[in-house]
Amino acid sequence: MSAATLPNVTLTDAYRAMTPGSAALADKARAVMPSGLAHDSRHFDPYPPYVQRALGPAKWDVDGNKYVDYFGGHGSLILGHNHPAVMAAVHAALERGTHFGACHEAEVRWAELIVQMVPSAERVRFTASGTEATLMALRLARAYTGRPKLLRFRGHFHGWHDHMTSGYASHFDGTATSGVVDGVADNVLLCDPNDVAGLTRLFNDHKDIAAAILEPTGATYGKMPILPSFLALLRDLTRQAGTVLIYDEVVTGFRVSPGGAQAALGILPDLTTLAKIMAGGLPGGAVAGRADIMEWLDFKATRETGREKVAHQGTFNANPISAAAGIATLEIVASTDVCARANAFGDALRAGMNAVLREERVKWAVHGTYSCLHIYTNPTGDDIVPGQFDSAAFIPAMIAKPRGEALNGPVRTGLLVNGVDMTPSLAAWISATHGETELAITVEAFRATVRALKREGAITASR
Ligand SMILES: Cc1ncc(COP(=O)(O)O)c(C=O)c1O
Repeated sequence: MSAATLPNVTLTDAYRAMTPGSAALADKARAVMPSGLAHDSRHFDPYPPYVQRALGPAKWDVDGNKYVDYFGGHGSLILGHNHPAVMAAVHAALERGTHFGACHEAEVRWAELIVQMVPSAERVRFTASGTEATLMALRLARAYTGRPKLLRFRGHFHGWHDHMTSGYASHFDGTATSGVVDGVADNVLLCDPNDVAGLTRLFNDHKDIAAAILEPTGATYGKMPILPSFLALLRDLTRQAGTVLIYDEVVTGFRVSPGGAQAALGILPDLTTLAKIMAGGLPGGAVAGRADIMEWLDFKATRETGREKVAHQGTFNANPISAAAGIATLEIVASTDVCARANAFGDALRAGMNAVLREERVKWAVHGTYSCLHIYTNPTGDDIVPGQFDSAAFIPAMIAKPRGEALNGPVRTGLLVNGVDMTPSLAAWISATHGETELAITVEAFRATVRALKREGAITASR
């Protein structure tokens, strides 16, 4: 019997008992890094696991505990950890040099692959991250249209730069977040996802919208879905208004399908932002899209038309090591069924975990689309039937978090104790290396977690 299944040991005590090495590292980290962290979404009480190595669908912490990994390099590892072809390409690239400070052959091949795979991509400009990609896409849209305003949707994430902070997790009235000047926030319009009347009104009231940006499958990669009819309306309204439509496919690109969400949904944007899978688990990003918009980055085209070129530098843009990992990954995504297999695993895992909820008579939901999964712990106590959860109807509750997500921490702790790592917000990014073994481990870890939380009095079964 593991510590996790002993009646008198809480999940947190069990976690502490199995992770003394992580506790010690977290103590040291807090002395030199705010909260001991390099990324807000790794924040976890009492402390996060410190990971030492990874392979395929698994990773091991510094205490030797093995986890089925659903953090998936923040979504960048559709091929799992250390895919042999990616590793071989990276090792070979390392032998040639890490940075030439020059154009190189791999960046050309990388861009060609993106143009071939992403339906709306005619030209590509590489960046070093997804945040930089959305920053550049928005700047291009402003230059192209000559307009100041940006339209975004509450709850959608587009990286951490100043233009996209209000309305993601806070400041839903559009006021500036800590450290951002009012003038920047004032130029951003916010709309509720799927709010047809609100969207129509915004386009009627504002004739100066440069760009509309969204995660095409919905906020947090489908946790709060965008309805296809709303996406179609947004496409129509942006086209009529001459507003640049930007799909932020940093997560969905090369995941939902080899051509991303746009290929699966059949509605194309003007610009697309990419990162994560695109760079094969190494740092990297890109803006791709219509040639006439991307032309604002082009020296000759802007000179000939008398426009002021959009400036863009970046020491690590199209870094050769990232390019090698990206090319190896995209070639596999393009030529095999990895996206479809990860999506099928998503369906199977959602079904298995919802079956646990029904058996345990717990009114939560495991939902999501494609190879992204979310656990909703129902803080408002609604009458949810697991497996029949209409997540779009819960978007206001998910955005506003009226009673918080108090159970997220305990659930993640329970999953960790039982050998599974999801994100602190209880999301999972699935890879093509997740198979039957991982499915069985995850479903049983979820069952053990639910039962432990019942024992601890954190949840009660419904009648
Ligand atoms: C939809 C989306 N856009 C942009 C970003 C920012 O990308 P990066 O973390 O590479 O800056 C993320 C990161 O998680 C994301 O999920």
